[in-house]
Amino acid sequence: MVERVTIDHVGHRGDGVSLTTGDAVYVPYTLGGETVEVDHVVGHHPDRRKLLAVDVASPERIEPFCPHFGVCGGCAIQHWAAEPYHAWKRNIVVETLAQAGIDCDVAPLVDAHGAGRRRVTLHGRFGTHDVLKVGFSATSSHDVIPIDRCPILDPALEGALDAAWGLAELLTSKMPVTKPLDIQVTATANGLDIDLRGSGPLPTPLVTALSRVAEQHHLARLTRHGELVLQRLPPTVKMGRAEVTLPPGSFLQATVAGEEMLAALASERIGKAKEVLDLFCGVGPFALRLAEKSCVTAYDNDAGAVAALAKAARTPGLKPIRAEPRDLFRRPLMPQELRDVDAVVFDPPRQGAQAQALKLAASKVPVIVAVSCNVATFARDARLLIDGGYRIESVVPVDQFRHTSHVELVARFTR
Ligand SMILES: C[S@@+](CC[C@H](N)C(=O)[O-])C[C@H]1O[C@@H](n2cnc3c(N)ncnc32)[C@H](O)[C@@H]1O
Repeated sequence: MVERVTIDHVGHRGDGVSLTTGDAVYVPYTLGGETVEVDHVVGHHPDRRKLLAVDVASPERIEPFCPHFGVCGGCAIQHWAAEPYHAWKRNIVVETLAQAGIDCDVAPLVDAHGAGRRRVTLHGRFGTHDVLKVGFSATSSHDVIPIDRCPILDPALEGALDAAWGLAELLTSKMPVTKPLDIQVTATANGLDIDLRGSGPLPTPLVTALSRVAEQHHLARLTRHGELVLQRLPPTVKMGRAEVTLPPGSFLQATVAGEEMLAALASERIGKAKEVLDLFCGVGPFALRLAEKSCVTAYDNDAGAVAALAKAARTPGLKPIRAEPRDLFRRPLMPQELRDVDAVVFDPPRQGAQAQALKLAASKVPVIVAVSCNVATFARDARLLIDGGYRIESVVPVDQFRHTSHVELVARFTR
């Protein structure tokens, strides 16, 4: 059913919100003040509408720069001028903290897109008439939109799409692949690092054929579910003074600029602390920089990431870094383990760090720096620290995932 509605504002997920019919309905790719024609979406989203036409456009509307925008699910916002987009993203942090009753200053949004995304997961699957498609998921569906280029990728990912198509074509021509393939590509100093997922067990001749494709595309490394298929060169990234060899599948911040900005904001807020804990440390982008001034103990439950950090910690000129695997959801550090610590930085996954925040709240650590990729779970954990007697200082929102509704932040707590 085609309707004409007015958009009130852009919601926290990046969709325009219309209140015209009483209940809120969500219309992707629209802006506040616009009048648009929409249609109902068939499927599971009774409150979503499909944009058919913009009748009255906002003066803030701009031309999207990617031909796939509006179909590909990768970007939610390319149609909004930079200034109101920045204000909207900062406001997501302001409103979420206010809803949690957290009263603090929120700094202007810091852009950290830099050269673009250095890591991307492409999907390969068959469409109608058994035509292979390699690209990103479509908006609100599991369909794959075939992609030949993506302007938000770091130029260091050049060749990623060709290599992904090459690997998917080989696999699907030699065996029935019924599940979607996930092809995670990371730009490293020595070339592309690719981990393939979803193919299931492969016969040896096919693994040999895959390694030939990896050679053709000059990949640094190809793994399958984390198991080595071929390594031509070690896939390394520079973190401060150190060089880290990435374990397959470990977490890595999405842009180089994002990692550098989050690490710089965290280091600044840690200051001159002697003994620092880095919780949820990953491969060590914070620990390896903090160790230029402080002794660091680092924990993460990804044993591969911890081993990579322990190796990189041998970089000459760094103060000692002790890195240990530990599940911080099940075994958070206890107040007595936090006794001689001068500062803590914690950067949990999207679920947040509830169990650890409770123990930190009961500790006497003078400075705690939270880095977060989910303002809702951050607000919950911040509440625990504040209720435990910590004061929250200014929160800095960081825009690493430009064109999406994701926002990172860094906050400092003191007691
Ligand atoms: C947002 S990443 C941050 C990693 C690192 N600080 C960085 O900037 O690259 C979250 C990290 O939490 C780790 N993690 C997830 N669940 C965990 C758990 N239960 N215990 C400890 N670490 C966990 C992941 O392995 C990942 O390295």
